[in-house]
Amino acid sequence: MDTQVVCRFLVLILTFFISTPSDAQNFDYADPEIYHSLYTECPKGCICPSQFPRALYCDNKGLKEVPVIPSRIWYLYLHNNEIDSLKEKSFANATEIKWINLSKNKISSKNIEKNVLKKFKNLLYLLLEENDLDGVPAPLPDGLEQLRLARNKISKIPEGVFSKLENLTLLDLHNNKLTDGSFQADAFAGLKNLVQLNVARNSLKKMPTGLPANTVQLYLDNNNIEEIPKNYFKEVPKIAFLRLNYNKLADAGIPENVFNITSMLDLQLSYNELKNMPVVNGHLERLHLDHNKIKNINGSLICPNDVKEEFDPHFPQGPRLRYLRLEGNEMKPPIPLDIMICFRLLRTVVI
Ligand SMILES: *[C@@H]1O[C@H](CO)[C@@H](O)[C@H](O)[C@H]1NC(C)=O
Ligand SMILES: *[C@@H]1O[C@H](CO)[C@@H](O)[C@H](O)[C@H]1NC(C)=O
Ligand SMILES: *[C@@H]1O[C@H](CO)[C@@H](O)[C@H](O)[C@H]1NC(C)=O
Ligand SMILES: *[C@@H]1O[C@H](CO)[C@@H](O)[C@H](O)[C@H]1NC(C)=O
Ligand SMILES: *[C@@H]1O[C@H](CO)[C@@H](O)[C@H](O)[C@H]1NC(C)=O
Repeated sequence: MDTQVVCRFLVLILTFFISTPSDAQNFDYADPEIYHSLYTECPKGCICPSQFPRALYCDNKGLKEVPVIPSRIWYLYLHNNEIDSLKEKSFANATEIKWINLSKNKISSKNIEKNVLKKFKNLLYLLLEENDLDGVPAPLPDGLEQLRLARNKISKIPEGVFSKLENLTLLDLHNNKLTDGSFQADAFAGLKNLVQLNVARNSLKKMPTGLPANTVQLYLDNNNIEEIPKNYFKEVPKIAFLRLNYNKLADAGIPENVFNITSMLDLQLSYNELKNMPVVNGHLERLHLDHNKIKNINGSLICPNDVKEEFDPHFPQGPRLRYLRLEGNEMKPPIPLDIMICFRLLRTVVI
């Protein structure tokens, strides 16, 4: 189970690198049309590398608008420009695009022509970070795998915008203006393959609901979350990486066994208002509890006792916690002996 989770995580990272222009090396140089296009159609001011004929580099060029993109292009770099709109005419022939980086531009939601994104039938990665968007752009192409919209001013999520994105694995909305009301009850329905959801640095007071069942990584740092509903993680049975640093969680907001779940590997609760260490599961490997109000921890009380029966050659019996952060609390070193007795695999404790 753990290995499976870690593998998916790696796959997510790897696909990011693998499906970048190195793919273009597989390009068939024998195709005379593409070869011809390489030399006749290179938008002014952009770079068309002959070793990557499917890639077009127009980043950092001070462009005010998107040039006409040649039809051969799969990988399009337009980041760090002054582009303020997306128009269908720029992409009229560019129907094969798989990958666009439009981050660090000045694109506002109202300046994205209605169907310009939907027409990218092959689009897998859409990067629109650091623009002027006030809503998630819609409609989006169904085949999308990564959607990165961090550092905009997004407060609106149009109804059903994600409902057909069955292959989306990563949705990054961090550093926007989302509130609890921004999400419809079924906002995430249909995201069957979502692995990572990042809603950090927004203005949420509640945990988002209706999360996709395959979610492995959930990032909610820097919001105003005060409580976690009982059984919250039942709907996300694969959750392994949870970040809730810089929120307003106090003991009363944490139901007794809410974090006592076998899938969780890395739990981050730094900079909250906890006075007690929450009950965790024996499978947990990393725990961040620094900068809370914890005065003492009764190691025998919180010692997980639920990993004893399993046999795994990689892990000796007992709780698997390896890394624990406790600094910035109201307790002084040394580390309580009963913690060390309970968590025998602990390698790093910061206190
Ligand atoms: C699109 O391609 C056609 C055929 O190759 C060409 O005639 C036309 O000028 C192109 N349109 C744009 C906007 O580049
Ligand atoms: C996309 O553009 C952003 C902004 O310049 C840059 O930081 C990022 O590395 C780019 N990502 C890729 C994968 O090209
Ligand atoms: C999702 O990915 C699968 C496998 O690559 C593909 O067959 C399917 O068409 C994709 N779905 C969409 C909506 O593009
Ligand atoms: C954690 O949950 C398991 C059941 O999944 C239970 O046996 C165990 O007592 C719980 N741990 C604590 C410390 O309550
Ligand atoms: C820790 O909890 C156990 C079990 O409830 C109790 O017997 C023990 O006295 C507690 N230890 C301290 C130091 O409070």
